[in-house]
Amino acid sequence: MKYRRLGKTELNVSVIGIGTWQFGGEWGQQFNQDEVDAILDKGQECGINLIDTAECYGDHLSESFIGDYLSRRKREDWIVATKFGHHFHERFTRTDVFGAEEVLKQLDASLKALKTDYIDLYQFHSGPDEVFDNDKLWTVLDKQVQAGKIRHLGTSIGSNDNLHQTDASSQVNSQVIQVVYNRLDRTPENRVFPSCERQDLGVLARVPLASGFLSGKYKPGAQFDVTDVRHRKDAELVRRSLEEAEQIRKNEVPEGVDMARWALAWCLKHPVVSSVIPGCKNPAQVASNASAADLVD
Ligand SMILES: NC(=O)c1ccc[n+]([C@@H]2O[C@H](COP(=O)([O-])OP(=O)(O)OC[C@H]3O[C@@H](n4cnc5c(N)ncnc54)[C@H](OP(=O)(O)O)[C@@H]3O)[C@@H](O)[C@H]2O)c1
Repeated sequence: MKYRRLGKTELNVSVIGIGTWQFGGEWGQQFNQDEVDAILDKGQECGINLIDTAECYGDHLSESFIGDYLSRRKREDWIVATKFGHHFHERFTRTDVFGAEEVLKQLDASLKALKTDYIDLYQFHSGPDEVFDNDKLWTVLDKQVQAGKIRHLGTSIGSNDNLHQTDASSQVNSQVIQVVYNRLDRTPENRVFPSCERQDLGVLARVPLASGFLSGKYKPGAQFDVTDVRHRKDAELVRRSLEEAEQIRKNEVPEGVDMARWALAWCLKHPVVSSVIPGCKNPAQVASNASAADLVD
């Protein structure tokens, strides 16, 4: 494994992390604790130290699996990133809850689910600018940092061209940007990454496999189960993404190299990217993703 400094947080994150939206049950598979334990144990064995989760991957469900795991392992071995701003009702249904008081309640619910007394990185979860620009929210969060419940604040921007929230990071003491970045979508290179560089923000590249479309296992025309979030994507957009991915596989991925590994290493070629956080469904995917670090200079 290789490690990079997460901007001015000074946390040393593995270049490959583990995304855990999947544990919430919206990717065509329900998880149990043994499966989650096996995924995280494999991650640790491979040198991974970063987990990304959220309040609304199930109703704190993904966090609860992780918390149960952490309660039986060493908490300090892991950098745990979670998020605030949504209330999960049922599969694929959430509402926004970004008010300062509600966020405090969510923080306590996340700490309880994660069975910990601190969160390493607490991220604003892809909310609109109107709620981001609420000084009261950031003042309340800062108090939680002072109290030791949160080590660092971050922002997971919804649009990957959201310069407003990225540029405002230093003002609100948000030290990390999480953003969609992958070989099919290079938008952040234009405006968001230069702003991160100027402010020395850490960068977590999310959806680095383009929802699995850059894994090489799906061909144009692939269908997804109704319980899989990918079933809900615009069919024409999926078809075009899979066609583009197929061209990339033929023209850019070296012979004999697994495409998912290649796609993760591709993101890490950009020096501003601290870590990629591919969503993982089993230990084999974790091990393969971790080995992408071998392809990074
Ligand atoms: N707004 C936000 O803050 C936000 C939004 C989205 C995601 N995220 C975070 O970012 C993480 C990553 O994004 P994502 O999960 O949406 O997309 P992703 O990482 O691009 O794709 C994940 C999918 O790729 C496939 N995959 C993973 N490793 C593989 C391997 N080695 N070989 C083959 N296939 C592999 C798996 O799907 P199959 O096996 O089913 O193909 C997996 O479900 C999430 O888990 C979440 O933590 C945050």
